[in-house]
Parts: sequence; structure tokens; C-alpha cells
Amino acid sequence: MKVLVVGNGGREHALLWKLSQSPLVKELYCARGNAGTAELAQNVPIEPNQTRALADFAQREGIDFTVVGLESPLVAGIVDEFESRGLAIFGPNSQASQLEGSKAFAKEFMQKYSIPTAEFHTFDEPQRAKSFVKDFGVPVVVKADGLAAGKGVFVCRTYEEAYRAIDHLMVKKSMGQAGSKVIVEEFLEGEEVSYIVLLRGDRYVPLPTSQDHKRLLEGDQGPNTGGMGAYSPAPFVDERTEESIKTQIIDRLIKGLKTEGIEYTGFLYAGLMLTSSGPKVLEFNVRLGDPEAQAILMRLQGDFLETLLDFYRGKEVELKVDPRVSLCVVLASRGYPEKPEDGKEVHGLEKVRALEQVVLFHAGTVEKDRRVYTKGGRVLNVCAWGQTLQEARERAYGTVEKISFEGMYYRRDIGLRALKG
Ligand code: AMP
Ligand code: GLY
Repeated sequence: MKVLVVGNGGREHALLWKLSQSPLVKELYCARGNAGTAELAQNVPIEPNQTRALADFAQREGIDFTVVGLESPLVAGIVDEFESRGLAIFGPNSQASQLEGSKAFAKEFMQKYSIPTAEFHTFDEPQRAKSFVKDFGVPVVVKADGLAAGKGVFVCRTYEEAYRAIDHLMVKKSMGQAGSKVIVEEFLEGEEVSYIVLLRGDRYVPLPTSQDHKRLLEGDQGPNTGGMGAYSPAPFVDERTEESIKTQIIDRLIKGLKTEGIEYTGFLYAGLMLTSSGPKVLEFNVRLGDPEAQAILMRLQGDFLETLLDFYRGKEVELKVDPRVSLCVVLASRGYPEKPEDGKEVHGLEKVRALEQVVLFHAGTVEKDRRVYTKGGRVLNVCAWGQTLQEARERAYGTVEKISFEGMYYRRDIGLRALKG
């Protein structure tokens, strides 16, 4: 089969790595990929958001199956475009992708279908948002309505911070249209986990659980990022918690989609806060998480392409999961997430290749004259397996020391919350 993966990041490299293990694969393509994906697939010079150009390419090349990694093409309607041409593609259509594409839509949906989430209000005028914050009190969370690659959310401990976040989004329009509407919501406390399922109509299969580290700095301080590291499984999700996630969140979501007449096929990611009054949804994403995907895919055994194809075609599937723990540390560029530096040569990659129980996924990298350079905020994902979380941590951090580029930054505390737990 010819398989195309859409996206440029560590998640897409991990998807290609997993799919490439399938004997069903004849050719792999990635649009547009990075220096790491180029080792497994043919990188195609089409941007992920050019949905029509991608469909033209898929038709021309006879691509049998496409898997979409990131959200923006899904929200832009890549699935609708492919399906209108009879091309098989794994991901939700543009209507269903509103669950991620508009936080206001997602929050109203959750409210309508009694899915536990933080109390919230939506505003399209900054003064109103501010006077609401003044009455509501702090801490409070200010969110851009539209897509912002995980960087449109501000957890505000003081009134000043909240007013600044509102101005940043609505007056300075630093996220463009994404911030023309904002959501102001109740601050939730607890352990944050990512619960991702394969969803098709009213059937779903949970993937292994994971925990991301969204903040830039150690100790969960600093601004939100796309994610600085992850591990799987998340021990905070015990059997009882998983049961509430299924009955109060996933089942209600499925019922809501059905009632609204929204068809859904693809990955569905519930970002959850495990609060003292049960799991509550922070956000829905219509794709795998990045870097959660890296940690999750490392633990899936068997032919994942076959699993996805069977699931897509409506067959029953069962996942086999590696009992080992996986852990992923993100190496980022200086300046991330605001203004990451580019063009720094990456050293040490060859030292990592032969290491056992270690795998390296590229994100913001490019190859030029057989050297690898940084391009973007999150550059590499150093991932390892271990019999225990401690072992996976030691192996991953031992590997990080072999790699360097100017301005390289990473968090040293990935997985520590679970160890302290
Ligand atoms: P979101 O994109 O909505 O998931 O928000 C990004 C991150 O901000 C989340 O992963 C949480 O770490 C944090 N966050 C979002 N909403 C809340 C909330 N209501 N209470 C506490 N933290 C939040
Ligand atoms: N790592 C968080 C996300 O992919 O949204």
C-alpha cells in the first residue's frame, strides 16, 4: 500500500515509524515532513494546510490511505476534500473538527451534553471579559477561541495577568482571528492526563493513557507550549477513574455527536483534569497529541496500519500494549514558544542510533548537505522504554546528554510527578 502522513512534527515521525513496521506498506510519504521522516518516507513539498494540493497529489500518486497528524488541515476540511474524491483518509471531517477548532463550540457542546468541564463564559468584547474576571475572581483561565498550537491559553493567578491576557488576544490580536473571541473559565486543580481513543460513530477503542508537560519550565511554571515531554501510562488513571471517563465523557460525547448529526472517524483526544470531584475536560482535540503520540505509539504492539485500516472499515480491533513504560523528552530551541531560533546545527545524532531501547523522533529539523539543522520550536524527541518509569527516565536523559545544538533547552522533570505521586 501507499500511505501518506500529513504533518511535520515528532508525532508524524512516530506515526511513520510505527506504520513502517507494517508488512502492508509499500511506500510511505510525508507532507511535508522533517529530516527524520525523510529517513522512512518520501517527503512531499506540500504544506499540510494545502488540502486541495494534497488531494491532487494523493490522486496522482495513487495513495491508498492517508493519516492526518495535526489539527489545522482537519479543521480546514482535508477529510471532506479527500472523501469527496473517494480517497481513504483517517481523521474527522471539518464539522466534527470544530470540537478542537472552536473552544466556544466545544464548551457549548459539553454544556449541552452534561460533559463535566470547567465553568465558563464566552466574550467577543475585551471590556466585558475584564469586568467578568473582576467579578469572578482569580485564579482564572483565559483562552483564545480558535487554533493557537497550544499557545492561546493563559492560566492567570492575578487580575493583572488576566487583563493582560485579554488585551494580548483581543486588543493586540497576537493570535490573529483565533483570539477575536475568548473564553474565560474556572481554574481547575488536579493531575492532568491525556485520554485518547480511536473513534468511529458509536464505537471506540482507548489507546494507552499518557501525561503531557505543557508548561515551558520545570515545576510546571512559565507559558504553555505544545508540550515539553510525555510518558505512558499515566498511573493516575486507575480503573475507577477510567470508568468515569468512559461513562461521563466519552459516552456522552458520542451521544452528543449522534444527536447533532455529526459523523466522527479518527483519533479523539480528551485533555482531562482529574479533580477532587472527578475527571473534567480541559479540551477536546481531534487528533493524537504531540508528544503524547510518541509515548503511546511506542507501546503499541502489532501492525498499527492494519489496526487503523480495520477500524476505518468498521471491523472490530483489539490493541496489544507493551507493558514497559515509555517516556519522551522534547528538546526545544532557545526562544520557544515565543520566537524560536532556527538554523543551528544538531550534533550527536549518530551516537544515538545504535542505543537499545531508545528511539529518536525529529520535529523541527531540516537536512542540508548531510547535516541536520534546527527549524522551529520543538526540535527533537528523545524517547526511551523502561521496565519502570525511573528506568525510562534515566535512559532518555542519558541519551539527551549525547545531543547538542546551540540554545538547546529541555525540562529535566519529565515524569517526576508520577514518581513523587
Ligand atoms: P487547553 O488548550 O484548553 O487544553 O489548555 C492548555 C493547558 O492549559 C491545559 O493543558 C492545562 O494545563 C491548562 N488549562 C487549561 N484550562 C485550564 C483550567 N480550566 N484550569 C487549569 N488549567 C487549565
Ligand atoms: N501535547 C498537547 C497537544 O498535542 O495538544
